[in-house]
Amino acid sequence: MTLVTMMTAHYQDILNDNFWLPFTPNKDFRNDPKLFVRAEGDYYYDPDGRAILDGVSGLFASALGHGRKELAEAVHRQMLTLDFTASFYRGHPGAFAAAKALSALLPPGLDRIFFVGSGSEAVDTALKIALAYHRAKGRGGRNIFVSRERAYHGVNFGGVSLSGLPNNRRNFDGVGPRVVHMRHTWLAENRYSRGQPGHGDFLADDLLRLITLHGAENIAACVVEPIAGSTGVLVPPVGYLERLRQICDRHDILLIMDEVICGFGRTGRAFASQSFNIRPDIITLAKAITNGALPMGAVAVSRDIHDSIINAGGEREIEFFHGYTWSAHPVACAAALATLAIYQEENVFAAAGALSGHFLQRLFALQGQPLVTDIRGYGLLGGIDLAPAANAGQRGYEVQKKLFDAGLHLKSTGDALIIAPILVTGLERIDRLFEILTRVLSTIKP
Ligand SMILES: Cc1ncc(COP(=O)(O)O)c(C=O)c1O
Repeated sequence: MTLVTMMTAHYQDILNDNFWLPFTPNKDFRNDPKLFVRAEGDYYYDPDGRAILDGVSGLFASALGHGRKELAEAVHRQMLTLDFTASFYRGHPGAFAAAKALSALLPPGLDRIFFVGSGSEAVDTALKIALAYHRAKGRGGRNIFVSRERAYHGVNFGGVSLSGLPNNRRNFDGVGPRVVHMRHTWLAENRYSRGQPGHGDFLADDLLRLITLHGAENIAACVVEPIAGSTGVLVPPVGYLERLRQICDRHDILLIMDEVICGFGRTGRAFASQSFNIRPDIITLAKAITNGALPMGAVAVSRDIHDSIINAGGEREIEFFHGYTWSAHPVACAAALATLAIYQEENVFAAAGALSGHFLQRLFALQGQPLVTDIRGYGLLGGIDLAPAANAGQRGYEVQKKLFDAGLHLKSTGDALIIAPILVTGLERIDRLFEILTRVLSTIKP
């Protein structure tokens, strides 16, 4: 009997052919649908009422867990006060308050905030800001961006051009901004490094090689995730980000850090740039900015960049021809304000840092499982490489399905599993996560 024929009535009521799922094998989903109908705390619930532990904070977003009443109330209040205004020519109190609250968490000086609707929009906005900045400085020829193999920066055309993931760029190549790529930072000799690998800072010199090849006078910015998340959690080698920073400084190249996954406590500090003690010129944010409750992203920009662009504009002239209908959406701002308040009041980032030791200890205990070929982790973010099956990506996909059936929701990319527990989770739920994972991995033959 197939799953379709086994499907209970409430599944039949929910499913149709109209909804096209993103980043999903749709045909397989129709045969074997995985649905969530409710969420609370660390758990999702399927239509049968079965609890499924959320091991990836929704998708790196629900840092405070699901169903937080404070957020629901803030959103409800805002909808009855000012449900919507666009921010073109008009402001509203929530936008200023959210920008201020966010600035208080950011590294000093990175406190000019451009709101957007998602991580992809944040990345594309950051690229445009970099171009506008160089133009304002009289360096309009700088329009090449440097990215990295295995990078994920969203799916808009800027992000796709930056992308270092073959499947995400292959079908859409050749139409975006000009991007050149450094090597990724995975090295075989660093396998099973807990935290930052000790070896590999030399990989930052790829930026120097690209400068030699293309000319610093043509390069606008270098864009990196502090920890490359979606590709399977590549933690930067000790000294690598520092070296990138030095090279950027020497050549007037902006350093953009994409903290869409790392931001808001994932690394034990508010932002990974603080954990790694690096000063980016621009930070892109999204996901946990509203605890995933509403779509929102932000670009945090240094005062120098912001002021250069604003001062280059004439009186009564728009200085930066960019923005979205949903930029600083009042309801998203209310959700962000309520989320940021909880981060502060509950000291969430420090609590995440304190849980990291136990998390990493359980994560690295998977070394030796026959299916596991590498493990990486930092803060509350972990990546596990699995031995591939006949086709690349097949193993990762099958394992995440088996995990779902066993009561654990994780992300897979290719043959890597990615773990990002809710930051306010407890030791016992971390233990439960790894119990399910260990049990499922041990039932699969390499
Ligand atoms: C580092 C990074 N940048 C950008 C994005 C894109 O964000 P969104 O899916 O909200 O557009 C993601 C999404 O996972 C991400 O991990």
